[in-house]
Amino acid sequence: MAAIRFLGLVLVLVTADLAAQQPDTERGRQVYERWCAACHAVDGAGEGPAAGYMLPRPRDFTRGIYQIRTTPGGDIPTDDDIMRMINEGMPGTTMPGWQDQLSRADRQAVLEYIKSFYPPFETMAAPEPIDFGRAPRVSDDRLEEGRIFYDSIECWQCHGDTGRGYGSSAPELEDDWGYPIRAVDLTKNWKFNGGGSVEEIYRRLRTGMDGTPMPSFSDLLDADFMTEDQLWSLAHYVRSLAPDRPPRVREVIRADRVEPGEVPTTVADERWDEVESFYIPLVAQIIVLPRWFDPSVDAVWVQALHDGNEIALRVTWHDRSESPHPNWMQWQERVLEVMEPREGDLDPAPRPDRLAVQFPRSIPSGMERPYFLMGTSDNPVYLWQWSSTDDAEPAQARGMTEIEPLGGSIASDARWEAGRWQVVLTRSLEPEDTSNRLTFERGTAIPIAFYVWDGDNGEEGTRGAISSWYFIYLLEDAPISTYVTPLMAFFLTGGLGLVVVARAQKRERALETASEGPDPTTPTGRNP
Ligand code: HEC
Ligand code: HEC
Repeated sequence: MAAIRFLGLVLVLVTADLAAQQPDTERGRQVYERWCAACHAVDGAGEGPAAGYMLPRPRDFTRGIYQIRTTPGGDIPTDDDIMRMINEGMPGTTMPGWQDQLSRADRQAVLEYIKSFYPPFETMAAPEPIDFGRAPRVSDDRLEEGRIFYDSIECWQCHGDTGRGYGSSAPELEDDWGYPIRAVDLTKNWKFNGGGSVEEIYRRLRTGMDGTPMPSFSDLLDADFMTEDQLWSLAHYVRSLAPDRPPRVREVIRADRVEPGEVPTTVADERWDEVESFYIPLVAQIIVLPRWFDPSVDAVWVQALHDGNEIALRVTWHDRSESPHPNWMQWQERVLEVMEPREGDLDPAPRPDRLAVQFPRSIPSGMERPYFLMGTSDNPVYLWQWSSTDDAEPAQARGMTEIEPLGGSIASDARWEAGRWQVVLTRSLEPEDTSNRLTFERGTAIPIAFYVWDGDNGEEGTRGAISSWYFIYLLEDAPISTYVTPLMAFFLTGGLGLVVVARAQKRERALETASEGPDPTTPTGRNP
């Protein structure tokens, strides 16, 4: 009697459970097909209609391989791990966060649904998260110890000595699906897929990033090669390669005034170390055909000085190779193969790295500016063009494909070192020929924009990375630091930025939405 009652109870429970589950699976499918399938595909295999425009490609859920876990390398993730990625997204990729977009119930339903693409989730035992312990405090000794392990474990093979992602293995790396994958630039921790804190870095070192060449180093602990405490030192060292806070974007680049003849014209001049750096984010050029969805350069840092006669800009950006470099030809071939077919043919070839700095031909009276993508036929722009294989020269552009040199040259000095380009461009404030060339006036906000091409990434012409318009402001008087306190300088530039921003019309919305998320930056003064 009791047994029958028990059976009845079980049946009731089971049917209630089924009833509760049925609509949930349906709900999970609906949420998935509406919000996720464009990238991850209806069948969960990762090749949705939008997938061909992105690297890394959207995750293929049918193999149960997840990057960001608390479980050992090779294990399936916990539900909490997957939920965290759904909530927060993956910085440095196109994977968005859904916390504010979808209700908790919808996120739970879609989580269950993506697990259903890999049936072993149902039969395998619930995975055990690793006990990571707590981060010890950072100290100089610890950072030194971490550096020693960075060298002995040979992280530099992929990430490079300075961490900028240019190691000797970097051009060959591919993920488990055969797509080219970049060794992360460790100096930009705000782009780490799993988060940039020391705790998150330590977790990635313990778990590895399954599906990518980034290994797990837990076996080094098991083999007594190093202790957990030493692995924490390594995590602290990696954290120290990036600035304390992500860089801040400001609208106005300040060009301080120095004594006549004191403008530094070489990259290596130590006076640049004292000059504030302004961080300018770049995004993919996806407006003019052929477009380019996978630029490798995501920002430049700009420093500027003038002495009343001449102006010099030092532009710094991270680039994994000095293009054209033979070791990177195979990278270019692979990237063009997976990114190009949708946008027309481009053969792999030795291509230089390029930089273009864009100005209007004359300072606009109001806030009107030429079209930010290299002007138009009736409102051209004035350019400084630099390339890793040629002298820098002035040019005029009437659109991205109508660029003609203006004759003459721009003084330049350039150096690629350890995953970073630095280029100094110098010109007199007043050009000899003022017809098509900008005269730099002091005390006024002058529009400026930047373009960068990474030749070894197959970039040239319309395929590259772009910024929207910013401003450069040449201070009237002698070095600001000699008579105002740094605090005043802060208010001065901060205030100026606000005025300029308030007056700016016609912001390039299209450009902003093309960017992959909140724009990060470097703390002032710090050398990128
Ligand atoms: C715009 C494209 C896009 C959309 C839309 C998108 N994803 Fe993703 N997703 C990606 C990409 C790209 C990756 C892989 C990033 C990588 O490999 O670094 C990814 C990875 C993931 C991962 C793997 C995390 C890990 O640890 O490996 C999960 C889980 C995920 N997405 C869930 C979802 C869900 C759920 C939705 C819909 C609510 C969704 N995604 C919508 C692009 C997208
Ligand atoms: C065989 C090449 C290789 C080696 C060796 C290697 N990495 Fe990586 N690492 C990668 C790749 C590739 C990625 C990017 C994975 C991605 O974007 O999904 C990466 C990503 C990372 C990340 C970013 C994690 C995140 O959340 O995005 C950190 C931090 C990192 N590696 C640190 C290290 C350290 C420290 C070492 C040495 C102990 C090391 N790596 C050794 C290839 C390597």
